[in-house]
Amino acid sequence: MNATDRKLRKLHVVTHGCQMNVYDSARMADILRPLGYTTVDSPDDADMVIMNTCHIRERAEEKVFSNLGRLRVLKEEKGGEMMIAVTGCVAQAEGELITRRAPFVDLVVGPQAYHRLPELIAQAHRKQGAVIDTEFPAEQKFDHLPDNAAPQGVVSFLSIQEGCDKFCSFCVVPYTRGAEASRPAASVLAEARRMVAGGAREIALLGQNVNAYHGEGPDGKTWGLARLLAEMAEIEGLERLRYTTSHPNDMDDALILAHRDNAKLMPFLHLPVQSGSDKILAAMNRKHKAEAFRRIVGKLREARPDLALSSDFIVGHPGETDADFAATMDLVRETGFALAYSFKYSPRPGTPAAALPQIAEDIKDARLYELQAELRRQQNAFNAALVGQTTPVLFTGAGRHPGQIAARSLWLQPVVVEHPTALTGEIHQVKITHSNPNSLLATLLSKEQIAA
Ligand code: 5AD
Ligand code: SF4
Repeated sequence: MNATDRKLRKLHVVTHGCQMNVYDSARMADILRPLGYTTVDSPDDADMVIMNTCHIRERAEEKVFSNLGRLRVLKEEKGGEMMIAVTGCVAQAEGELITRRAPFVDLVVGPQAYHRLPELIAQAHRKQGAVIDTEFPAEQKFDHLPDNAAPQGVVSFLSIQEGCDKFCSFCVVPYTRGAEASRPAASVLAEARRMVAGGAREIALLGQNVNAYHGEGPDGKTWGLARLLAEMAEIEGLERLRYTTSHPNDMDDALILAHRDNAKLMPFLHLPVQSGSDKILAAMNRKHKAEAFRRIVGKLREARPDLALSSDFIVGHPGETDADFAATMDLVRETGFALAYSFKYSPRPGTPAAALPQIAEDIKDARLYELQAELRRQQNAFNAALVGQTTPVLFTGAGRHPGQIAARSLWLQPVVVEHPTALTGEIHQVKITHSNPNSLLATLLSKEQIAA
């Protein structure tokens, strides 16, 4: 096929990893749609499969190769008539190693090159052997976003910042996603308006270091995230704003005050801290102490008393002693999290921490177990405390069972409501009746009940 061939083609995209990859996968489908590609739900029906991969931990990478094994069988069954592309961070990090290990892969494309997909696919059709593009081009990736994005729904994600300059000792992101870059504010706002016109009521701004956002404003000045959020809040029909994921050092006062002053900004913040030990924070190259995190949390809660926090933790980073881990547990108990993600340290090739003496696996297991038990306890307590309360939820669509509809709380919890009509896109007061570890049940309140 060449780029001008409009024959109908079927595309299946598999997404691993973070929200940024979910966003990128949707953009790749947008880029390929003008070439005649429609998306299908199963690789069985596809002419082309894109596997958008994650490299953050070893297990994510193993998953890529086991999934590729399954695609190889499918490709053989189709007599070779299925193009396989590997994209995302494993593509960026491993490049041609992927095609050496999986020679049936046709294309390997890093996150900086998605706008070249049509050309690369055409090349792959012409060429014997795989086409690989993992260049970091001089031009900005944000220069090439398509403006024909398919609507994502009531809750939409919008990428505004990409890459990272922080070089935490454990992390591959600065290597796979490159240097920090911010999308110009006008382009963000234009996409947000299109999303709202397409039905979005809640938008989450995405970036690997989203609170380091420093995009060019329409006034020629550099805008920080607080300024961008203020402008987003002016968009009529857009009701809720979030941003993820952030670094404590970029939590400046303007952004903290946005949690007080921007009424559309939701009272929930994902702020990874990774460890509560100053020694390990230094070894991780996080460039702040545990005390700084405590101080920021204090200021945020002062600005927005109902703010709930989420975080990321790593246990078993090289050098972590029992006392260091105890400091993490202290920080967790003291702070109180509504939600948190915790991981065993996983050495990533090429990162500084991977070269250090490693902590034994059974010690990592035991620490993770203890940490997750406490985090689970906090999450359950946070959810349970909402039972009996009245709170506004945003309805997102049908529920899993007939007669149920799905919604989302201010604090990101899925809420299930018994109701015959979907109410999609509307915000209503509900009374929380029951809490589960990962969701809430609620009943819709009538106008009279709310007034009473
Ligand atoms: N090992 C374990 N966890 C990691 N993360 C990033 N790199 C690693 C690694 N090498 C975690 C961090 C980060 C989250 C996205 O993944 O907690 O915040
Ligand atoms: Fe990775 Fe640290 Fe950058 Fe986050 S701030 S993406 S953990 S290097």
